[in-house]
Amino acid sequence: MITNPFENAFGLDISDLSMKVVQLQGKKRYLRTPSYKLKAARSITLPYGLIVNGELEQPEMVRKYLMYLLEGNPKKNQKPINGPWVVASLPENRNFIKQIAIDKEPDDIVEEDILYLVKKHFPFEDNEYHLDWQLLPTPSRNKSVVLMGAAPKHVADMYTYLLESVGLGIVGLDIESLATARSMITAEKEYVGEARAILDIGATKTIFIVYDNNSVKFSQMIPFSGELINTALTQKLKIDFKKAEELKIQYGCEFDSSKKEVWDVISGLIGTLVSEIEKALRFYYSHFENANKINHITMCGGVTNMKKLPELLSEKLGIESEPGHVWKNLRVHNTKSLPSEKALSFATAIGLALRAADNPYTQKDSL
Ligand SMILES: Nc1ncnc2c1ncn2[C@@H]1O[C@H](COP(=O)(O)OP(=O)(O)OP(=O)(O)O)[C@@H](O)[C@H]1O
Ligand SMILES: [Mg+2]
Repeated sequence: MITNPFENAFGLDISDLSMKVVQLQGKKRYLRTPSYKLKAARSITLPYGLIVNGELEQPEMVRKYLMYLLEGNPKKNQKPINGPWVVASLPENRNFIKQIAIDKEPDDIVEEDILYLVKKHFPFEDNEYHLDWQLLPTPSRNKSVVLMGAAPKHVADMYTYLLESVGLGIVGLDIESLATARSMITAEKEYVGEARAILDIGATKTIFIVYDNNSVKFSQMIPFSGELINTALTQKLKIDFKKAEELKIQYGCEFDSSKKEVWDVISGLIGTLVSEIEKALRFYYSHFENANKINHITMCGGVTNMKKLPELLSEKLGIESEPGHVWKNLRVHNTKSLPSEKALSFATAIGLALRAADNPYTQKDSL
């Protein structure tokens, strides 16, 4: 067995308002599901303005917060993250994902084939993009399917510079939605004749992802988030942000006649979320070949914890929508440090950690 050359590699999810780190230690492989020990899972909140829409506006300050996160707080019993290797996320809003078929056996594909496809399918000039690609399983001979993710080079460079400036070595830069799907889709399950959607509702954005025929098909940003709810509450009810956050958590999507004004604001925003999801579903069904019916929406991201939100989405969309189980592909046993409510925020970071912990030379899965 070849061991992972990137010993202690960890996942790092960088968002506008938070950074999250997850480190797994590979243990044994039982059947097809590997088993890991959770070495670390923690986050740090970023103040406004340091990262805006994925752009590092104040890189020096971001660097300080990153060092603090990696160093850990001894008062909270946190140990420094050892090992220089990292798999980090690139912001979703700056990325493109595409699945492309090539008339060649997987073993015959050479780098030039990939570069040719990028030129043909992505809106970037030469040397202006950062590329990540994976072969997907395909039943037909003389045919391969490649899942490609491309990000503008200046964005990838910004993140590379940040990570290298704190002494990290980059094993991979992963597009957010691919990392999230890696933790939220059951790895050993074959989905036949049915598709899944993942809805990651975070502090600053919502990402809608379709997983069908054994791979991520497409992802789309939806203008809905925890911050958006807070902003609407502050403006409509003339309250401050702290109070808005409290009301959002206390009432969520539960109707309370004594707080009708909160329900009015939140239910209006949910209405927009629902119609945006419906639009994305229609787009998927009309633009993708062999699209299967999406019969389940797996939810993650901190806003999934909002009271009655999964129930409300299930009812309005007519598709069962439920919080996902972020640890399901890991068989970890020591997750007590991260209660399930908090863990939903770590779906992306866990997906990154899975890629980091897996030996990239023996990895054959499709995500
Ligand atoms: N019980 C709850 N009810 C409502 N909202 C909640 C609850 N718990 C957490 N949240 C919200 O979840 C959000 C944080 O989610 P998450 O950690 O997934 O975001 P993020 O990954 O930092 O952001 P993003 O991916 O959007 O850039 C915050 O807006 C927070 O207020
Ligand atoms: Mg997030």
